[in-house]
Amino acid sequence: QTQYLADYRPYPFHLNETRLRFGLSDSATEVTSELDFTRQGEGSLILDGGTGLDILRLAIDGQELAPEDFTREGEMLSIADSALPGDSFTFSATVRIDPSSNTAFEGLYLSGGMFCTQCEAEGFRHITFYPDRPDVMAPFRVVIDSEQPVLLSNGNPVGQEPGRAEWHDPWPKPAYLFALVAGDLVAISDSYATQSGRVVALNVWVRPGDQDRAGFAMESLIKSMKWDEEVYGREYDLDVFNIVAVDDFNMGAMENKGLNIFNSKLVLASPETATDADYERIESVIAHEYFHNWTGNRITCRDWFQLCLKEGLTVFRDQQFTSDLRSAPVKRIEDVQSLRARQFREDQGPLAHPPRPDHYREINNFYTATVYEKGAEVIGMLKRLVGEDGYKAALDLYFDRHDGDAATIEDWLLVFEDATGRDLAQFKRWYTDAGTPRLRMDEEWTDGTLTLRFSQETPPTPGQDDKQPRVIPIAVGLIGPNGDETRPTEILEMTDAQQSFTFEGLGARPVVSVLRGFSAPVVLDRDLDDAGRAFLLAHDTDPFVRWEAGRELALNALQSMAQGGSADPAYVDAIGRLMSDDDVDPAFRALCLQLPAEEEVAGRLAHAGVTPDPDTIHAAHMQLAHSVAEAHEDLLIRLYQSMEVTGGYRPDAQDAAQRALRLIAMARLNLLDGGERAATLFETAGNMTERFAALSAMIRAGRADAALETFRQEFADNRLVMDKWFMIQPAAASPDQAATIAAELSQRDDFEWKNPNRFRALLGGLAANHAGFHAADGLGYDFTADWLIRMDAANPQIAARMSTVFETWKRYDAGRREKSLAALQRIAATPRLSRNSEEMVSRMIESS
Ligand code: ARG
Ligand code: ZN
Repeated sequence: QTQYLADYRPYPFHLNETRLRFGLSDSATEVTSELDFTRQGEGSLILDGGTGLDILRLAIDGQELAPEDFTREGEMLSIADSALPGDSFTFSATVRIDPSSNTAFEGLYLSGGMFCTQCEAEGFRHITFYPDRPDVMAPFRVVIDSEQPVLLSNGNPVGQEPGRAEWHDPWPKPAYLFALVAGDLVAISDSYATQSGRVVALNVWVRPGDQDRAGFAMESLIKSMKWDEEVYGREYDLDVFNIVAVDDFNMGAMENKGLNIFNSKLVLASPETATDADYERIESVIAHEYFHNWTGNRITCRDWFQLCLKEGLTVFRDQQFTSDLRSAPVKRIEDVQSLRARQFREDQGPLAHPPRPDHYREINNFYTATVYEKGAEVIGMLKRLVGEDGYKAALDLYFDRHDGDAATIEDWLLVFEDATGRDLAQFKRWYTDAGTPRLRMDEEWTDGTLTLRFSQETPPTPGQDDKQPRVIPIAVGLIGPNGDETRPTEILEMTDAQQSFTFEGLGARPVVSVLRGFSAPVVLDRDLDDAGRAFLLAHDTDPFVRWEAGRELALNALQSMAQGGSADPAYVDAIGRLMSDDDVDPAFRALCLQLPAEEEVAGRLAHAGVTPDPDTIHAAHMQLAHSVAEAHEDLLIRLYQSMEVTGGYRPDAQDAAQRALRLIAMARLNLLDGGERAATLFETAGNMTERFAALSAMIRAGRADAALETFRQEFADNRLVMDKWFMIQPAAASPDQAATIAAELSQRDDFEWKNPNRFRALLGGLAANHAGFHAADGLGYDFTADWLIRMDAANPQIAARMSTVFETWKRYDAGRREKSLAALQRIAATPRLSRNSEEMVSRMIESS
C-alpha cells in the first residue's frame, strides 16, 4: 500500500478528450463520462474509482461491457484486454454517487446546500472512473443538468440555459484540476485586459448577502494578474476567471483551471469581521491560486512525489508578490517565523521528510510545511546562487520548455543548469534529504584579517541516517565598531562539511552579520555575547539579522529563566532603545516586541538536550513580558496613543503596521493595567483587528466573560467570526483551564464540528496554548484524541492533519510522554481508522 517514486511508469494510454455529463441531485447524482483513449504503450486499461461509485453502465465504443469484461478491486477498475477493440476507443461510464453523504469533502459534495468539488490530490476518483493521476491530461467538455441557478465548471462557457450549462476547457489538464460548482450564488464582477489584449471576465461568487465582503478578494485578483505579467511575463489564458467561496473546505483554496474554489475565510472580509492578518492572508492566497495557473496548471507534476515542483514554486511566487506589495523585510521575517514554527518542528520530529519524498501511504498527508514552505526556501536559495538574471533566464526556459508538460524536479533543476551552466547535482540534496542542517560559525581575527570557519551537520531523520554536506548560500556583511557597514552583503557558497572564508584588509575587528535575509533554512550556531547581539539589533543594515539579534536576546533570556535563572536586562534595554526609535517601521518594531513563542523555547531547549517544562516556560514568558512592561511603561503608553490610526479603516501595510505596534503595546500594558485599556478598546474600536486583540487581552486579564457574550451575540450568524470566538478561548486561557474550556465549548450546539474551520478553530486554539495542550494532567491530549477519533470517521484528511499537534510528544518529560503516547495508541487502535490517520499516527508512534 506504500507508493514509491521509483515505481513510476507512464500511463499506457493517451487521453484525447474527456466529456462529462452531470445530472445533479443531492443524494443520487448521475455522472456520465466519455473518455477517448489512444494506446501509447504496453499494459491494460486500469481506471481509478472509489468504492462509493455505483456502476449503472460501462461501455467501450458504445457497447455495454458484460460483467466478465471488467474487474473491480478496491479503488481499481480493470478492463479486460479482450474488451478493447483496438488502439483507439471511447470508454464510457455512467455512475451514481451520493454527494449528500460526503462528509470527507473530497470529490463532489454539498456545502450549505451548494454542490462543489475538491479533486486534489485524488478526489476525482470519487466522482467517476478515471486515470486519476496528474500525468494524464486532456481537454474537458462538461455538461451540468441542475435546477440550481448558477452552474460552473472549468474553462469557457459554451452554452447556458435554465437547468443546463455547458463548459469547455481547451487546455489539457489532469483530473485533479477539475471543478464543478452549482448553487444559489451571486457574483461581484469586474474585468481585466491582459498584456496582449485578451479581455477576461472576473467573478467572485458568494452566497447572497456576502457580496459586500468580496471586494477585497477581487482587488487582490486583479493585482495578482498584473503582477504575474509584469514580473514573470505570464498572461491569463481563458475568457473567464471564476472564484467561488465555500464554507466547508478542507484546505485553504484550490487552483482548479479557471474556477478556483476557496475556503470562505480566504475570500470574505470586511473591516468589522476580518483582521489585518486575515486581509493579508486573503491577498496572498488569491495570488497563490492565481499563480498556479502557470506553475501548476500549464506546467503540472508528473506524479505526486513532485508536489513541491508546483507548491514550492507557487509559494515562492506568492511570497515575492506580498514582498512587492507590502514590506519586503517584514514579509521575510514573518515567513521565517512560520518556517521555524512549522517546518523546523516537522524536520526535527518523527514526521520529517524531504521536500520531494520518495514514498508515502496517503498523499494528502504530504501537503506539509516541508513541501510548501521549505520547497519555497529551496527556490530562494537557487535564486541567491544563480542571481536575478540567472533566475529569470531559468524561469523563461522553464515556461518555454515545459508548457503543457507534467514535469519533475529533475526537469526543474535541468532548466537552471542549462540556463546558467551551473552543476546542481549537490544542490539537489535539498530536495531529496530531510532534516535541517546545523551551521556552526567560528571567527578568527589576526592583523586585519577575519577568518570565518563554518561547519555543517544534518541530524538523522526517519529512514535517512547519513547526511552528505549540502550547498549552503551564506549571506554575510561586516559592521565596523562605529556601527557602519564596512563590507556589504556577499554570498559565501559553502559546499563542504567544513569550510573557511577570509576577509582581508580590515582596519578594526568588525561584527559579523551572518545569514542575512535568512539566506538558507538552517539552524545557525555562533558565539556572540549579548553586547554583540544588542549591537546588531541597533546597527545592522540587514533587517532580518537585526530582528534575529533581538530574538536571540529574548530566547537566551527565556531559556535561562526556564532553567531557573533570572530575567536578563540586555533584552529589556535593547528592546526599549529600538521601540523609541520612530524612524524604524512600526511593523518591524512590532515584530521585535513579540516574544518567541513558548513552543519555540521548548524546541530550543530540547535541541540543547534539556527536557522542556511547559509550565516553567510559560511562567518565564509571562515574567519577561512583565519586565518589558514595567521597564518601558511610559514608552508603551506613548506608542499605544501615537500609533492610533484615525480615519476610515484601510487594510494596507502602513495602517496595519501602526495597528500592530499599538496592539502589542496594549498587550504588554495589559499586564500592568489589568485589562483596562483592552476593555475600553473593545467598546470603542470599529474594526475586528482591534476588537479581537482587545478581546484576547481581556481573556488573559481574566475579565472577558461579558465581552465574550457580547461578541457572541453580535456575530452569532457569522461563521467566520464565530470561529475566532471558538479559537481564542482555549488559546488565551490560563494553561490549567485550557482543556476544560475547550471541552465545554465542544459541547455547545453551535460547535458544528463537521465544518473544518470550526473544528480547527477549537482544537487548533487549544494546541496553540502550549502549556495548556501539554498540561501535565493529560486532559489536553485526551480531549484532542477523542475528537480526532470522532473526526476520522467523518473526514480523514482533517483528522490526520490535526494529529500533527502530537508530533513533538517525545520532547517532554516521562509523565507527559506516557500520556501522549497513550493518546496516540488509542487513536491507532480505533476500528476502521482511515489510511490518513493510520499513517500519521504510526509514524509518530514508531519513533518511540
Ligand atoms: N493545491 C492547493 C493549494 O496549494 C491545495 C490543495 C490540497 N488539497 C488536499 N486535499 N490535499 O493551493
Ligand atoms: Zn498551492
